[in-house]
Amino acid sequence: MSTTSEVTAMSDVPQGREVGVAILGHGTVGSEVRRLMEANAEAFSHRIGGPLALRGVAVSNPTKHSRTLPKELLFDDAMELIAREDVDIVVEVIGGIEYPRKLVLAALNAGKSVVTANKALVAAHADELADAAEAAGVDLYFEAAVAAAIPVVGMLRRSLAGDQIERISGIVNGTTNFILDAMDETGASYDDMLAEATRLGYAEADPTADVEGHDAASKAAIMASLAFHTRVKASDVYCEGITKITAQDIEAAKNAGYTIKLLAICERIRSAAGEDSVSARVHPTLVRRDHPLASVNGSYNAVFVEAEAAGRLMFYGNGAGGNPTASAVLGDLVGAARNKVHGGRAPGESTYANLPLADFGQVPTRYHIDMHVRDRVGVLAEVAAVCAKNGISLRTVRQEERDDAARLILLTHEASEESLDATVTELATLDDVLTVDTVIRMAE
Ligand code: NDP
Ligand code: HSE
Repeated sequence: MSTTSEVTAMSDVPQGREVGVAILGHGTVGSEVRRLMEANAEAFSHRIGGPLALRGVAVSNPTKHSRTLPKELLFDDAMELIAREDVDIVVEVIGGIEYPRKLVLAALNAGKSVVTANKALVAAHADELADAAEAAGVDLYFEAAVAAAIPVVGMLRRSLAGDQIERISGIVNGTTNFILDAMDETGASYDDMLAEATRLGYAEADPTADVEGHDAASKAAIMASLAFHTRVKASDVYCEGITKITAQDIEAAKNAGYTIKLLAICERIRSAAGEDSVSARVHPTLVRRDHPLASVNGSYNAVFVEAEAAGRLMFYGNGAGGNPTASAVLGDLVGAARNKVHGGRAPGESTYANLPLADFGQVPTRYHIDMHVRDRVGVLAEVAAVCAKNGISLRTVRQEERDDAARLILLTHEASEESLDATVTELATLDDVLTVDTVIRMAE
């Protein structure tokens, strides 16, 4: 219940300048942004120092929205809405890359601040968009683009701006985490759990961007750029999805004390000569069951950060959905509106470090190699010799009997991707090796 003084304070709405807002898109995210903006109008006025005024909502099919929005607020031409003189801030929640890129650039070039949830756009064109915002002296905010409600962008841009980040390991895609977690829980196949994710509405009609890792790669590019003050694009991120993970892989991981997660790993790699480079990669990863990321279940997201002074930090929460994403968009909107009312700007892009991108072939990782071999004297020695020859040192070896064959599971020490590739290629040529079934990278 509100106290009298709170009621008095709430009714004493600041009369600062009105900030005009255009929302582009009224789908899962846009409709929640609009609803919460209206529902919390008075509180937002206090937080900003003046009221937000919705000037319009652009959609592709206005008829579909005529029950929830008055006709005068509906636009089928987003450019027309952006061009209005009384629009100060543009919220882009349409999705895609090329069309929203034109819209966002038009808004920035016209001196309007932009808030977007569009990770694909930011990961592909951060440089161009940041340059346009800088030239116009306006804000470009994109908190919702990484893990929705979890404040990852603000944490990297502001909270840890005084620290040196060494590594970020993130579960940043809810759909794939749901699938892998359900496979781990039930022992079911990838196809069955993808169907379940679709039935529950986690996976989209076309889940390619999620299951092939592209969605997580966009988020990895954004996190790596912010963490290492270096421009990293989605196309710079090594990307492998979860479509090849089998129930057998999950079982083997479990038996060895691990679970499999799709991790976005952004890492500072230091060479023997002391030179830094940046690696950003997305792939299924074996995570020890006692690691904090192993207990991130269902469609939840989590981002684990290792920084020089702060040590280890973990951020956990809802990484998708209308409400959680709207929360992040509205936080940005309040920030951009405050700057319109009081002056000031959001932190701009910081790429001063301009570190080189690490050659993926040289990135050191540990591996889990699952293979079938003939159950003969000397096989193990042969396999170990190939690993040693290619610079891979074995940590553990486990053998399971299978009629006339044996299943060998190798866990290695750190080695480069090049060493791994050479090893796997050579192992496959050995007469006694029937198949090299799976190679999965392991987290620290
Ligand atoms: P939806 O598909 O639910 O909504 C898209 C909206 O954009 C619809 O209202 C659609 O109009 C409108 N639209 C499409 N084309 C045009 C056009 N040419 N002109 C004007 N409007 C258009 O998408 P979401 O709300 O799920 O996602 C929006 C953005 O948020 C994406 O970038 C996404 O990656 C990001 N995001 C989404 C999350 C989520 O959980 N959904 C989480 C984090 C980020 P109409 O309704 O008429 O079809
Ligand atoms: N498809 C994404 C996910 C939505 O599953 O996490 C949030 O970016």
